[in-house]
Amino acid sequence: MELPHHEDVSPGTGSLPPRAWYAASDAATLCLNGRWRFRLSPAADTEDETFAADGYDDGARDGWGEIAVPGHWVLQGHGAPHYTNQLYPFPVDPPRVPTENPTGDHLHTFELPADWPRDGEAVLRFDGVESCAGVWLNGTELGDFKGSRLPHEFAVGALLRSGRNVLAVRVHQWSAGSYLEDQDQWWLPGIFRDVTLLHRPEGCARDFFVHAGYDHRTGAGTLRVDSDVQGRVTVPELGVDVPTGEPVTLPVEPWTAETPRLYDATLATPGERIPLRVGFRTVALRDGRITVNGRPILFRGVNRHEFHPETGRALDPETMRADVLLMKRHHINAVRTSHYPPHPAFLDLCDELGLWVIDECDLETHGFTAVGWRGNPVDDDRWTPALLDRAARMVERDKNHASVVLWSLGNECGTGSGLSAMAEWIRARDDSRLLHYEGDRSCKDTDVYSRMYADHADVERIGRGEDDGPPERAQLPFILCEYAHAMGNGPGGLSEYQRLFETYDRLQGGFVWEWIDHGIAHPAYGFAYGGDFGERPHDGNFVCDGLLFPDRTPSPGLVEYKKVIEPVRIDGDGPDGTVGITNLHDFADLSHLALTWSFEEDGTTVADGVLAVGPVGPGERAEVKLPPPPRRDPDAETQWTVRAVLAEDTAWAARGHEAAWAQLPVERGMMLPMPGGAVPVRDTDGRRITLGAATFDARTGALRTFHGREIRELRLDVWRAPTDNDNGMPWRPEPTLATRWRALGLDRMLHRVDAVETSAEGLTVRTRVAPAASDLALRTEYLWASNGIELLLRMTVTPEGDWPVPLPRIGIRFGLPGAGDRVRWFGGGPGEAYPDTAAASRIGVWESDIAALQTPYVRPQENGARADVRWAEVGGVRVASDDHPALTARRWTTEQLDAARHRTDLVAGDTVWVSLDAARHGIGSGSCGPGVLPPYELRATGTTSFACVFSPATG
Ligand code: GAL
Repeated sequence: MELPHHEDVSPGTGSLPPRAWYAASDAATLCLNGRWRFRLSPAADTEDETFAADGYDDGARDGWGEIAVPGHWVLQGHGAPHYTNQLYPFPVDPPRVPTENPTGDHLHTFELPADWPRDGEAVLRFDGVESCAGVWLNGTELGDFKGSRLPHEFAVGALLRSGRNVLAVRVHQWSAGSYLEDQDQWWLPGIFRDVTLLHRPEGCARDFFVHAGYDHRTGAGTLRVDSDVQGRVTVPELGVDVPTGEPVTLPVEPWTAETPRLYDATLATPGERIPLRVGFRTVALRDGRITVNGRPILFRGVNRHEFHPETGRALDPETMRADVLLMKRHHINAVRTSHYPPHPAFLDLCDELGLWVIDECDLETHGFTAVGWRGNPVDDDRWTPALLDRAARMVERDKNHASVVLWSLGNECGTGSGLSAMAEWIRARDDSRLLHYEGDRSCKDTDVYSRMYADHADVERIGRGEDDGPPERAQLPFILCEYAHAMGNGPGGLSEYQRLFETYDRLQGGFVWEWIDHGIAHPAYGFAYGGDFGERPHDGNFVCDGLLFPDRTPSPGLVEYKKVIEPVRIDGDGPDGTVGITNLHDFADLSHLALTWSFEEDGTTVADGVLAVGPVGPGERAEVKLPPPPRRDPDAETQWTVRAVLAEDTAWAARGHEAAWAQLPVERGMMLPMPGGAVPVRDTDGRRITLGAATFDARTGALRTFHGREIRELRLDVWRAPTDNDNGMPWRPEPTLATRWRALGLDRMLHRVDAVETSAEGLTVRTRVAPAASDLALRTEYLWASNGIELLLRMTVTPEGDWPVPLPRIGIRFGLPGAGDRVRWFGGGPGEAYPDTAAASRIGVWESDIAALQTPYVRPQENGARADVRWAEVGGVRVASDDHPALTARRWTTEQLDAARHRTDLVAGDTVWVSLDAARHGIGSGSCGPGVLPPYELRATGTTSFACVFSPATG
């Protein structure tokens, strides 16, 4: 049986050979984006193609609506998106796909402008169509193609009419190509990138290849532009004017991601003038290291999928620029274009603003794991032409970008001869870049040893060269192409990875998974994730695992990453007043930065100034002396804050943008006086105990009021709404941390009051807090004392039994009915911080409203804690503690947070629930990777003591 084109393994028919993409030249172009006519059918009816016939589009047919191109029809009211991570949402029977195959017929009528040139040829370009398209112009079939995130062009000159032209495109959601596009993301069919008609004048180049290397020993660049048509290459700034094919060598400033120096140039052929932006740089493997311009580089990277909450993978130029600017502002220096070549304009931005790019081919066959990799296309020669086509379309399109330093064969395809064929083709075509592929541990086709989610210990072994494996691999540099899974609250453990990267030369950094949450804007849910459209199978909110929320607000994970990868390390000795400045750039010196100091008393700046530092080259360190401390209040806690900020505006941030900071503690400050003296008094009816300005329930010992203000349910709390990292990897056989917590009953601990005792010192309440059906317990004692105004709580928690799980937290929680919105605190801020995500938390006096304290994770979970709190004021109450607890304040309870599936499930109540945690379990990145590192585990062993003092708020 002959298969229809969408089900055959071929890459397609009729399209032109791939070539370099460029934004504009002096040749005419016509953008065909806009409103197109659209009809969705439930199946691929390959018999009836009448919609494409000349004359069909008379404007009055039933069943047709309109759609925006570029766009995905499932995001425009036709059908629905479907999310799976690894699984194919159709039977694995390559290359066949279901008969139920949503098929979108598109019609677009356009007129050629009156001045459209008559000479030469014209091509019709599709920059991206998912997953397979058949194309007709004015009733003539041009061909068909697969390869969703790759360009395809057709010669159409002979078919163009001077008046009305009708373009017909039939797009199938499922095709043989879908087997090669099993990336972890929404399945989003449609013409989702630009459609353009391009004039190809007589005498224009079909294709050209810009070779621009840099010799770091001589400081000379060598430029050669190869073209199939003779022309001239000019670089006015360098006085270059040479024929194509002829190299020219001369002194230049090199291009790096830190110093993205581009030279404007022109390629002029008899038919066309093409503007070029040339960056001189040489990528090489030297002594087992990835080097650029002779120096090893360290990737501080992210994996970037193309995503917008309203338009899916159809990205407008502003969004692309916003992504690059956000990356640069957060010190990210590298992007892996997971897992397909991005819109080509994105790479222009990477050239211009400076990012190292691993350009990845549109290839993933992950779903074959479900069938033991049987029939995997990358190990089946029949598919090799399709794989080679994809490799060529990526390399040819993107070969002229200085930013692209590695080609990646694809992601999670297993192993096979098809990958080797791709590698061989790419090496033959472009020997100026290195090759990446993570999925083959033999590394036979690659120049780097790459892994994903390896834990710290493993990475350290690799760094030391102690890993097993083929001997050739031991010679290769190592990167983590994915790590630090940024799903929900987290990732934890970033600092520890960075320390390893900076310690071992072989480790050349990594790429956080991933840049942005793929939550789809939804009227009822806020942002939707897998399953929210009723689709099956699905992988839930695993699609929301980015450093940005879907609306591109930075999550605390991005703020933490920014701190961890800051390109300057500031350290020192506060009491001594010395500061060390280490330049962690690979190329840039620090002349673009200005250093400042400030001196703080109890979190408030009392003096500041400029810190003069001499030249510090890349990799160098300088020591400077701070001025004498301008100390005034001898009781205050004091510290220095040293900052490095941009001295001038740059293309990606304004002057003053913070590049690095550190706080150096000087004096701890006076310890909190512990109030006492007031004697507890029982009411005559025996129901109440009064202690200073506080009243307690005489039977339960529960605090009821303080200075007349109602306090609800103040008691020990160990539960947190599990984070995505607590929820772990549900597909693994072993139970996840959250499953074990729930099985034990940590979410429903039972509190038994054993004694409520009064004495001259105060009130003692002894309790036993324990889960049902278990003999494990936490003996908890509350000791209350007062001086009449202030109220002291000392809590001790002593575990009984051998606890098989770490505890989520040990702290108190209480409700403040009718509390206002304002919260002030002296401690860590401004954002949330957990034990292993606290690098970006800085000590100061902060203020927020309750709503702004919540971190809006797409799936609600534990969030919003501020670390190291010395005092906090909320709802008219001030709480101070020398134990520096973590603070959360919410208008819902932990139980409500735990039960919520979407943000919109959380409804603000009148009571503010405050938690003060003496200790907390860390976050880790167990949603896909290592769990919490041992130092950040909260083991239930030994006694935890916690003290705090309540007083009326002053502010
Ligand atoms: C990797 C994969 C990514 C993503 C990630 C988890 O295995 O390459 O595409 O699925 O895991 O979010």
